[in-house]
Amino acid sequence: MTTDPERFYPRELVERARRINWYHTFHLDHGVEIEGQFDLTPMVPRYGLPDDLAGKTVLDVGASNGFFSFEFERRGADRVVAVDLPTFEAHDSSPALRAERDATLSDEDLARNDESDLHGGFFLLKELFESKVEHVGCNIYDLGPDKVGGRYDVVFCGSLLIHLTDPLRALMRLRTVTKERCIVATVHEPALGDATDMRFIGVWNGAAWWKPSIACLMEMMRCAGFKDVRRHDDFELVSRHGDHVDPTVVIHATV
Ligand SMILES: C[S@@+](CC[C@H](N)C(=O)[O-])C[C@H]1O[C@@H](n2cnc3c(N)ncnc32)[C@H](O)[C@@H]1O
Repeated sequence: MTTDPERFYPRELVERARRINWYHTFHLDHGVEIEGQFDLTPMVPRYGLPDDLAGKTVLDVGASNGFFSFEFERRGADRVVAVDLPTFEAHDSSPALRAERDATLSDEDLARNDESDLHGGFFLLKELFESKVEHVGCNIYDLGPDKVGGRYDVVFCGSLLIHLTDPLRALMRLRTVTKERCIVATVHEPALGDATDMRFIGVWNGAAWWKPSIACLMEMMRCAGFKDVRRHDDFELVSRHGDHVDPTVVIHATV
């Protein structure tokens, strides 16, 4: 957090916020800022989110700290459900990384990681914003109407597919919970041009696996059962410190 948040927010909340690894940056009242890895506020218009979500239900898959979930609520959605992994350890990891973590991390370490890297930021902000956004711990591979209480008018999945060994299977699961429109934003590989190819970028101790071409991503979405698949926009997502520059594409589709 930036200087002097204690002047405006309870000390307990500020101390909790300092223990969290924030992915998203949040601009709070009184000029107080939560400094996350990415500041998406200036990028929001590029995603083509509906301005008015009154009467709509929205599912935000891979919500992290909930930047988009809270934005959907602000746009008037009737119901917003944020989905993220039930535990940090449920990430798609290589067997070697899993074994290493099993050998070195205690149950307390794992619980602390869940709080600092997975759910803590979302729940802190839910409290701060007095938000009604619901939270469900569910792997994208397990998504289905039974897991998240039905199908949703709008399903959003931002910057998640790169973390999966099987993005096509994940898109198929997104299809099962989409009632009207699905918006997928993800890192792509511009060098692949129009070929329907994906580049393998995985390493044994990493958390990123594939970078598809835009054509490949669109074709996978069609295979997953989506219709009217169209490229809405593409841009570079640059982290606050410039150490990540991710070519990102936003695809809109219907069912
Ligand atoms: C890079 S963040 C993206 C946050 C946000 N959606 C956005 O667009 O800014 C990716 C999120 O996806 C979640 N994630 C990774 N693998 C997942 C999986 N298999 N199922 C559900 N969520 C997953 C991570 O825990 C993380 O919160």
